Amino acid sequence: MKLLHLDSSALGASSVTRELSAAIVARWQDAVPGLTVDYRDLDTNPLPHLTGGVLGGTDAAASAENDAAMAQFLASDVIVIGAPMYNFGVPSTLKAWIDRVAVAGKTFRYTENGPEGLAGGKRVVIASGRGGIYGDSSPADFQEAYLRQVFGFLGISDVEFVRAEGVAYSPQHRTDALAAAHASIPVALRKAA
Ligand SMILES: Cc1cc2nc3c(=O)[nH]c(=O)nc-3n(C[C@H](O)[C@H](O)[C@H](O)COP(=O)(O)O)c2cc1C
Repeated sequence: MKLLHLDSSALGASSVTRELSAAIVARWQDAVPGLTVDYRDLDTNPLPHLTGGVLGGTDAAASAENDAAMAQFLASDVIVIGAPMYNFGVPSTLKAWIDRVAVAGKTFRYTENGPEGLAGGKRVVIASGRGGIYGDSSPADFQEAYLRQVFGFLGISDVEFVRAEGVAYSPQHRTDALAAAHASIPVALRKAA
């Protein structure tokens, strides 16, 4: 079994989502002996924005990088993503990665009956961090809702969230939110497994 672990927080060692994504991966490793883990830090090792030059395939190095990101995604059974809320959405580094793996003809296609996801059978667990409090269905949430939509569009319906929110309210809020998120990991993994 292969697990792909991505982080996208720009806050380095003080990141909530990095702490949570690492804890999720450690739990998965405990549960599955011999699990192969690939790691990419999208903050320190980002993919460039998807420009016309990158999309057009005229840049051989960029095309190779795209192909590698896609192959790594397709080879993974489980994807664990540290995904903070940035300006109500996801960090642009994570968006750039999504732009490489959401590709017509590879991970989804349009048919006469509408779109069809081609990447089904994978499991996704998102370590979500938010300064404010949004709950499960806020109209201001373009982060978790977006990630659920994107992976669902690719055919992946098993998307679980481990969420620490309200972390900017006060240090105590942050401590409590992190503790609650850590405590929720076994439940999220049971649902995802
Ligand atoms: C650039 C930036 C934008 C942010 N935008 C939002 C936001 O729109 N809503 C919110 O609730 N928190 C926002 N925050 C707070 C983060 O979501 C919060 O600090 C979260 O814990 C970040 O995860 P991290 O600690 O793993 O980096 C923002 C933080 C940064 C650095």
